[in-house]
Amino acid sequence: MDLTEKYTIRDLYRRLEQKSLDKLEGERLDLGGFVKSNRSMGQVGFLSLNDGSCYTPVQVVYDASNKEIDALRLGCSIKVEGTLHLTPEAKQPFEIKAEKVELIGGVSEDFPLQKKKASFEYLRTIPQWRMKTNTFNAVFRVRSTLAYYIHEYFHSHGFYWIHTPILTANDCEGEGQTFQVYADVKKPSEYFNKDNVHLTVSGQLHVEPFALTYGKVYTFGPTFRAEKSNTTRHAAEFWMIEPEFAFAHLEDDCNLMEDFLKYVVRKTWEDCKDDIAFFQERIDKNLESRLREFIDKPFQRVTYTQALEKLRKAKENGHHFEVEDFSFGLDFGSEHEKYLTEVVYKGPIFLTDYPKEIKAFYMKQNDDGKTVAAVDLLVPMIGELCGGSERECDYDKLLARMNELHMNIPAYQWYLDLRKNGSIPHSGFGLGFERLVMLVTGMQNIRDTLPYPRCYKDMLF
Ligand code: 4AD
Ligand code: MG
Repeated sequence: MDLTEKYTIRDLYRRLEQKSLDKLEGERLDLGGFVKSNRSMGQVGFLSLNDGSCYTPVQVVYDASNKEIDALRLGCSIKVEGTLHLTPEAKQPFEIKAEKVELIGGVSEDFPLQKKKASFEYLRTIPQWRMKTNTFNAVFRVRSTLAYYIHEYFHSHGFYWIHTPILTANDCEGEGQTFQVYADVKKPSEYFNKDNVHLTVSGQLHVEPFALTYGKVYTFGPTFRAEKSNTTRHAAEFWMIEPEFAFAHLEDDCNLMEDFLKYVVRKTWEDCKDDIAFFQERIDKNLESRLREFIDKPFQRVTYTQALEKLRKAKENGHHFEVEDFSFGLDFGSEHEKYLTEVVYKGPIFLTDYPKEIKAFYMKQNDDGKTVAAVDLLVPMIGELCGGSERECDYDKLLARMNELHMNIPAYQWYLDLRKNGSIPHSGFGLGFERLVMLVTGMQNIRDTLPYPRCYKDMLF
């Protein structure tokens, strides 16, 4: 029988926080993980052990005359048996006095992670190792925690999670930037008996019928876009969260977005305090103050037309933009979004009521005949974090717009028919999950928020 109790390092820090770690003083523990560092001074050696459960490693103290332990290098996997001792006077609040350290997996001479700091560019070339570095260890923990609280938020607010398909015959955003799927390139259409099957760009169309039945639903899954944009904010494969809810108008959509985002950011920060403190210290000196404002301050609500006016004024006052034709219909670029969020409004803004020409076919047409009930949430540093709208729920208006856009009506008839039978006003939005991870960690490249990034001209294995 194994008398040692299994703890993770996180369990120990949790107990410390809850002031119950003293109950384990002198207890025998059994920990497993990888070596972060190893040094010895005279008779005593110090191993820093990380088991991935939390940011902060644990210090293992050993007898330095044991040359086998002394020789353990960064990256070695080990098992440690020892006793726990509180060390309130020392730099770390407790340590493990090793009785036995067992090498489980050694490292070869060419192990690519070394003690000296490697650039993010280099680490992108070794995605199978980079999660062992402090930064990426923290990124993927925060990513997982965010996903947990996203599900928790929706679950506790009565939203059901619907698994919409990845293979689809519809193009939700109508941009044609899709990855085609072939079972056999010689006979592309044979397998599904469809002319055009591709990876989904959004689960929205498929989730709408569920919203009209269950009232409140959401999707959370991978989405794919064949945009040829090599930027720090676009991935070819990314995850999207898309709530959709019935009896909801544009304002309800904004309210949900704000409440939901503030909740998941706050809860994740509380849960990953050490990780966020690390990002604040090493990645972005303004991170914590930005997150605090994000949580505490109401997001400002601005119409597209008002924003356009602000940009015109800025130009009159001598600010130079690359694109300066501020006539109605301009699709804002990142320079405009940046100016609005960082200079004019100094915080997140809901930009609503866009010209219909620059938005997707399914958005509710406003009475002015020019704009649609769309919303983009723009945030400093990131740009567009979410995009959503109230949906057009009038059959004739939707059909007219689809005809204007020369869409293939038969392919979307199933979707149109939702407006014929038990139609309800409804709204929803899509949140780009990696952009949320960027917001919470301060990481500046979407490639550094994805475990295995797939971007334009950029896929390793
Ligand atoms: O604004 P988008 O295109 O909206 C939709 O797809 C709607 N169907 C959502 C809905 O109403 N249910 O995409 C939503 C969000 C964007 O705001 C952005 O955060 C993210 O998805 N996104 C990307 N993230 C990473 N890489 C890309 N290539 C992205 N394209 C969009
Ligand atoms: Mg958008």
